[in-house]
Amino acid sequence: MKVETIIDNTIKPQLIEAFGRQVANSLLTRATLSYVSTDGSEKERYETLLYSICSDKRVIGVWGKQDAAKQMTEWKTLLETDSSITSLPLQEGSDDLIKGEETMSAKILDGRAMAKEVREEVVAGVNDFKAKHGFTPTIAVVRAGDDPASVSYAKMIKKSFEKAGMNFALHTLPDTASQDEVAGLVAELNADSNVHGIMVQEPLPKGIDDAAIKAVILPEKDADGVSPINAGRLAQASPVGRAEGVKDYIVPATPLGGLEMLKRSGVEMDGKRAVVVGRSNIVGRPMAFLLMQHHATVSMCHSHTRPLGDATRQADILCVAVGVAELIKGDMIKPGATVIDFGFNRSEGEWVGDVDFEEAKKVAGMITPVPGGTGSMTNVILMRNVLEAAKKQMKR
Ligand SMILES: NC(=O)c1ccc[n+]([C@@H]2O[C@H](COP(=O)([O-])OP(=O)(O)OC[C@H]3O[C@@H](n4cnc5c(N)ncnc54)[C@H](OP(=O)(O)O)[C@@H]3O)[C@@H](O)[C@H]2O)c1
Repeated sequence: MKVETIIDNTIKPQLIEAFGRQVANSLLTRATLSYVSTDGSEKERYETLLYSICSDKRVIGVWGKQDAAKQMTEWKTLLETDSSITSLPLQEGSDDLIKGEETMSAKILDGRAMAKEVREEVVAGVNDFKAKHGFTPTIAVVRAGDDPASVSYAKMIKKSFEKAGMNFALHTLPDTASQDEVAGLVAELNADSNVHGIMVQEPLPKGIDDAAIKAVILPEKDADGVSPINAGRLAQASPVGRAEGVKDYIVPATPLGGLEMLKRSGVEMDGKRAVVVGRSNIVGRPMAFLLMQHHATVSMCHSHTRPLGDATRQADILCVAVGVAELIKGDMIKPGATVIDFGFNRSEGEWVGDVDFEEAKKVAGMITPVPGGTGSMTNVILMRNVLEAAKKQMKR
């Protein structure tokens, strides 16, 4: 097959699909110039053309060095197969593409350090609030039953709220509590002007409809953004910088912590491809809306996404919240991507994320560790949510 035929039938359509017609034409114009201005055999000139395409920064930016090098090898084979030209080693440049990949090591995003910064901001805000209004922002935590994880999470919230100068009040019910009793308690807290944030711990006892309980929480006191009103408002939120759209809502602390980490690490979201794996109401789904609000082009993946790696490799920003230890391997990540791992799983006696950290850090540009990443942010963002809710309630 002639070079022209390979370009028309294979390379051009693939480039158009990956980069759009305009970029594809520009890549091919440049590559053709290299082809015609190179001395040597047809094969050497063809390889120059391929190298011009696969080393272009627009191509590397989307495919990454490794995939670009793989694609170059694949295209090279087309000419070799069809014209029975024996194989030559890859050009020096394409070798570098692969070597560069192996030595890459991601910047580790330090969730603990960022959480410390946010905490200091919250403490300053709480002090201002107390000076201005003469009372203390307060969270009320509701628990029915004594699920051990919920008990220890409540203790942790109490400790961190009180350390930041905020109030914490725990309201417990037995695990025999009825739907009406739990809903009644939440309604009382809604009406209590000394309570600024409400959080209902899960799991609730069997037989209680947790969605219905979330719907009872007053949206402006919904500390972790779980009420359907807040979820709907986030879904209709105005994109950053635009006047129209919904503005007043509370976002679940975990994804908001992820967003805060992206912002504080200087990660550009505008115009980038973001992929969120996991569609839970508490992490994945709100994360996707936050990214879209910041002008990223967002894809959402879940347990029916096939093949998952094809989707995740598109991501400049990859956020993972699946609850499956080390599901995301290095070869599922685009080189240079920012990886936000929300996962928190116990595996062989250790805490690990939903991303295989050891593999991923060799490929990604930035990555959150587990522990010490997103988990460190959740609690301080919960405090910030309650402080902001208290401020808004004072204005009303
Ligand atoms: N950092 C924090 O502060 C924090 C807070 C909350 C949760 N977490 C952690 O985040 C993780 C997720 O929690 P969650 O509450 O969002 O979990 P969840 O409610 O169980 O949701 C898991 C999501 O992952 C998807 N999923 C499961 N297996 C998958 C697979 N093999 N491939 C692709 N998608 C898959 C599920 O898809 P389907 O919808 O199709 O079922 C679902 O959308 C857990 O590790 C949890 O411990 C961390």
